[in-house]
Amino acid sequence: MPTGASSMTGENDGGAGDEAGTPFAAWRSEIISEFRLRGAERCAAASPFPGFPQILESIIEALDVAPVGPWLDVGGGLGGTASWIERTTRRQVHLVDPVVEDLSSARDLFPGLSVSCGDVDRLPVRSGTVSAVVLDGVVSERADVVPLLREVKRVLAARGRLAVTDLWSSGASGGGVGPRYFRSLEDFVAVAERGGLALTHVAVADVSVGWWSQAAEQVHDEIAVRHRSSPAYERWCAQLERLQRVLDSGEVLAAGLVLGAAEPLGPS
Ligand SMILES: C[S@@+](CC[C@H](N)C(=O)[O-])C[C@H]1O[C@@H](n2cnc3c(N)ncnc32)[C@H](O)[C@@H]1O
Repeated sequence: MPTGASSMTGENDGGAGDEAGTPFAAWRSEIISEFRLRGAERCAAASPFPGFPQILESIIEALDVAPVGPWLDVGGGLGGTASWIERTTRRQVHLVDPVVEDLSSARDLFPGLSVSCGDVDRLPVRSGTVSAVVLDGVVSERADVVPLLREVKRVLAARGRLAVTDLWSSGASGGGVGPRYFRSLEDFVAVAERGGLALTHVAVADVSVGWWSQAAEQVHDEIAVRHRSSPAYERWCAQLERLQRVLDSGEVLAAGLVLGAAEPLGPS
């Protein structure tokens, strides 16, 4: 079993976003542009995540204590989450993602957003300079979260914060290795604590309600109209159905966490 992943499914559940190497993000961004979705609706359609915006709002409130300095949305994809944070706070959020096509779509959808290419294991920033790191839907894509946590810890300033929103296993630890890893919250927090990041806040929400998911649904409906004959379409549907199934069954839950880098030692 990979380090730090103790409860997972063996299936690819599609998570709350789009996989690298698939046309799904491109389908999504094209429709968002053509539908002329604006403002909050554009953010929601670009970054569909169960339990948003409630989880995100709770996380943003908890990040208020982060020191002055830049925020990074790592694995920010099409930029809906980063843009939403910028809209609702006075913070500037820099989006980092390794998929250049997604960065280009993020630039088109949210022209004010600062974006750059980068990997969560090797962030393109100096040590101790970042006020907050946001990881939305990224942790569940990683078999081993230790390198990721080590890198986040490296870039965070003293009293900086890590916010993680993702899908988590609600049950006891399982086994198996798959492309998506639904850890229990407890397991993730334990690994983070061993890496010097302590839990400061937890946010959960009812995933069955809300305008955020409705914005994504209109895009999904249009994907069905436009791409039904594409070879990738069936796979996309299967992923969404599996995701809905595990959420409905209660096997997986959506939640956000905020963790804090340790305080520097004061004078003795
Ligand atoms: C489920 S999507 C979430 C997208 C985005 N956070 C949002 O809120 O819409 C996962 C994202 O993680 C990115 N990703 C995958 N591997 C990564 C890595 N090694 N470093 C940084 N980002 C990564 C993918 O390109 C994708 O954009």
